[in-house]
Amino acid sequence: MNICIYSSVEQAASAATLLIAAQVIKKPQSVLGLATGSTPLPIYRELIQMHKGGLLDFSKVVTYNLDEYKGLAPDHPCSYKRFMRENLFCGINVPQGSIHIPNGLASDADNECLAYDAAIARIGGLDLQLLGLGANAHIGFNEPAAQFTAHSHVVQLTDRTISDNRRFFGEGEPVPTHALTLGIQPIMQAKHVLLVATGSGKADAVRSMIEGDVDPMVPASILQMHPCVTIVLDADAASKLSGR
Ligand code: GLP
Repeated sequence: MNICIYSSVEQAASAATLLIAAQVIKKPQSVLGLATGSTPLPIYRELIQMHKGGLLDFSKVVTYNLDEYKGLAPDHPCSYKRFMRENLFCGINVPQGSIHIPNGLASDADNECLAYDAAIARIGGLDLQLLGLGANAHIGFNEPAAQFTAHSHVVQLTDRTISDNRRFFGEGEPVPTHALTLGIQPIMQAKHVLLVATGSGKADAVRSMIEGDVDPMVPASILQMHPCVTIVLDADAASKLSGR
């Protein structure tokens, strides 16, 4: 694991942005795995700025998002489809047909997951997978469980995740209890994994991910087995690592 620690959230985000930009410049037809949540927001803002400044062209890029809430329509204000449109895709030039996000309204969600995996395999896998980190160390929506699930699947969200994500939903609005998520296999088969975690709320998860055993109860710990992973942290997220 290549672990990079920055003094502020802004510096961490800029470092992650540069890694993504370098990937797109090196390989304009890159297949990017993208994440939602508050952590990637400053990264997406910087990518938009770089695109608007003429530095980055996404016209050949293909994207696959990690996950989507089951039961939310693509236009629902809290769907990840809408999140990605409003926070990234509105400001860069990935062609509409090159953007992929699991369909939360699929009538057969298991089949939707199978088809999603097959599409990623057909295109040759992900060049770069961007990940955030759940406070319970989930990646995508791969929640702590008795075993890792290789393929993309429908998952029941833990109470912790539901309460952590409640802030994105309106008052009184129910948070979905299930989601469709990329499984561990397509994440582990990405050529490069870039995980970004910021803030003290992630410090315990960061420590277990890096210093604990590889354990399906700590889903992100599987990244210890990945040959090319970069972990970008701010000082708060890194604060519980030994030696700090
Ligand atoms: C959600 C997403 C994850 C994300 C996590 C952390 O649960 N499914 O992919 O990493 O939130 O979110 P945040 O960055 O807001 O802390």
